[in-house]
Amino acid sequence: MQKKYLMTPGPTPVPSEVLLAQARPAIHHRTPDFSAALMEAVNGLKYVFQTENDVLIMGSSGTGVMESSISNCFCAGDKIIVTHNGKFGERMTQISEAYGLNVIDMAFEWTEVVSPEAVAEALKANPDARGVVVTQSETSSGVLNDIKTIGETVAGYPDCVFIIDSITGIGAVECKTDEWGLDVVMTGSQKGLMLPPGLAAISVSEKAWRAYERSTLPKYYFDWAKYRKSLEKETTPFTPPGSLIIGLAEAIKMLREEGIENTIARHSRLAEATRRGCEALGLKLFAPPEGRGSAVTPVWVPEGVDGKAIVKVMKDTHGVTIAGGQDDYAGRIIRIGHLGYFGNFDIIVTLAALEMTLAQLGYGFERGAGIKAAEAVFMGE
Ligand SMILES: Cc1ncc(COP(=O)(O)O)c(C=O)c1O
Repeated sequence: MQKKYLMTPGPTPVPSEVLLAQARPAIHHRTPDFSAALMEAVNGLKYVFQTENDVLIMGSSGTGVMESSISNCFCAGDKIIVTHNGKFGERMTQISEAYGLNVIDMAFEWTEVVSPEAVAEALKANPDARGVVVTQSETSSGVLNDIKTIGETVAGYPDCVFIIDSITGIGAVECKTDEWGLDVVMTGSQKGLMLPPGLAAISVSEKAWRAYERSTLPKYYFDWAKYRKSLEKETTPFTPPGSLIIGLAEAIKMLREEGIENTIARHSRLAEATRRGCEALGLKLFAPPEGRGSAVTPVWVPEGVDGKAIVKVMKDTHGVTIAGGQDDYAGRIIRIGHLGYFGNFDIIVTLAALEMTLAQLGYGFERGAGIKAAEAVFMGE
């Protein structure tokens, strides 16, 4: 037997409280019992998203709600500014193009933040843009984008909705939906919400509802109004992922107990320990200092070491699953997830496994240095 550790930025570990809630015998979704769980989940999501806006729950992975943000806010031919500095932002460009939007594609390097100044310039040059899209926490690159500053600019354009992919942001980094004027914010269950995959949530502001009223793109399963109308009757338009919603109500209880500010502080501590631990091993951080998120820490694979072998040895020999790089960065970076149900000792275990793996692969460094650096963060040193 080998004890397993899931250290990826999604799926993430599911606490036993949530697993047990999900293991209860199925209940029918048109019952008061289910409505109570649904409303607990929806109100809990409002707490986590820090919003009074509508929050809609859908049975899909994150990409489903990403697609819904486009099909519900726009008409074919609408101009939209899509920023990206990683794989998931690129997906928003692909979805927008699939729906026939006129995309102003703002590509940044994966090692850069999305520049708020560049977005302001793009809006000035295209005041008729109907939307701006930013990935808050870009999981492929670990970069945290400054949606607060960009939001201040977008707020000056009354017909332009600000769409945020916070799929690995929610529950890991600050995301003040109302205070920062974020019109559409989305997340997926297998991330900071500490659930298995299969459920996604999206918040919709008044401004985004106005865009919805004007939108003529085709939609059915992901038609936001269907979900809003059903929620008024404390139900869902289609058969919901019932056990995930019951699990979500339980996960929300845990998040409320911790308090969202403490949850975010915990993630920031885990990220800092991971960064300091990796740097103590001589590894270089991938994300730039001005935009390092708390959901995942990507680091460059050192010269002469096979990056794919690091992931494989950590998993096969030590039982610790981390993520590799994506697209151009496959084999060149490794990514350690610490989003959701994680504590200090998950980081210690992962750094220990990383040290043993690097030693096995012939990389020279001071053994124990990574763990020592992480311990220093946890001890407030
Ligand atoms: C930032 C971000 N956006 C979008 C997605 C896509 O979500 P899903 O794989 O659940 O469809 C992910 C998944 O990892 C993500 O991390």
